[in-house]
Amino acid sequence: MEHFSNKTVLVTGAASGIGRETALAFARQGATLVICDVDKARLEETADSARALGRKVMARVVDVADRNAMRSFSEEVHKDHAVDVLVNNAGVALTGGLLDTSLEDWDWIIGINLNGVIHGCHFFVPKMVERKSGYVVNVSSVAGYLGTGILAAYCTTKFGVLGLSEALREELHPHGVGVATICPGVVNTPIVEANRLRGRYATNDMRTRSRALYNKRNYGPERVANAIVEAVLRRKAVVPVTPEAWAIYWMKRLAPKTMATVGRVLVKQAGG
Ligand SMILES: NC(=O)c1ccc[n+]([C@@H]2O[C@H](COP(=O)([O-])OP(=O)(O)OC[C@H]3O[C@@H](n4cnc5c(N)ncnc54)[C@H](O)[C@@H]3O)[C@@H](O)[C@H]2O)c1
Repeated sequence: MEHFSNKTVLVTGAASGIGRETALAFARQGATLVICDVDKARLEETADSARALGRKVMARVVDVADRNAMRSFSEEVHKDHAVDVLVNNAGVALTGGLLDTSLEDWDWIIGINLNGVIHGCHFFVPKMVERKSGYVVNVSSVAGYLGTGILAAYCTTKFGVLGLSEALREELHPHGVGVATICPGVVNTPIVEANRLRGRYATNDMRTRSRALYNKRNYGPERVANAIVEAVLRRKAVVPVTPEAWAIYWMKRLAPKTMATVGRVLVKQAGG
């Protein structure tokens, strides 16, 4: 059954990984797509795949960190579309502690991972509220509820996304608009290659070890995409994805000290 026929789904960061698979999962369910990314060539590949499924697609090169670009994008989108589902997915990673992270790096990651989500919500949620319907999906991470010493800036942004989403869910509930936060664990995508490695983690060995870990874990982005579709259909709130994300979610609540110890061991194993 096509659950999203006559619906428009907007996905940011749709050129790769979780964003690409999410866009295609909604397209398979009948949705019209509005997609954006900074990678024009790969964005077009996603658009072509969705068109091959018979869907209408509007694809634009947009930097989610750029407030003016997001404003223009939203104005163009709203001329032809009412967005039913907004997936704020675009994101980047940075491995390093506070002592390794320059202020330029902080600006970069906060700009994309946190301001990008804020921009998406700021420019697209008001029309949903006017129409009294819609669903917002913000992609956080297991790093949105577990702080680790080697992901200071990344965790900061992902905790921010989780906090914003919880608050937004409460705010928008009376308006008939739902909000879900997706918190994946280790998902095998090209995020490893784009990851900025800093301080003592800035080695080829670290990147090779991360790639090997992600390959070995081999949890595909299409499984996160399915969880996102399911979250909208079932109007879910916080959605850990992958068994380790669920385990950490509960351990953090039930045994926070044990979780901190386990977290340090896991970071060591990952090369930290
Ligand atoms: N892969 C994982 O293990 C994992 C785990 C938890 C959370 N996440 C989150 O999932 C989301 C998607 O990550 P992914 O693993 O699919 O990574 P990915 O690198 O495969 O895809 C990210 C996409 O975002 C785009 N992007 C980057 N900066 C952008 C910008 N300024 N404006 C617009 N688009 C931009 C990239 O070009 C890329 O197409 C991110 O928010 C990430 O933090 C990933």
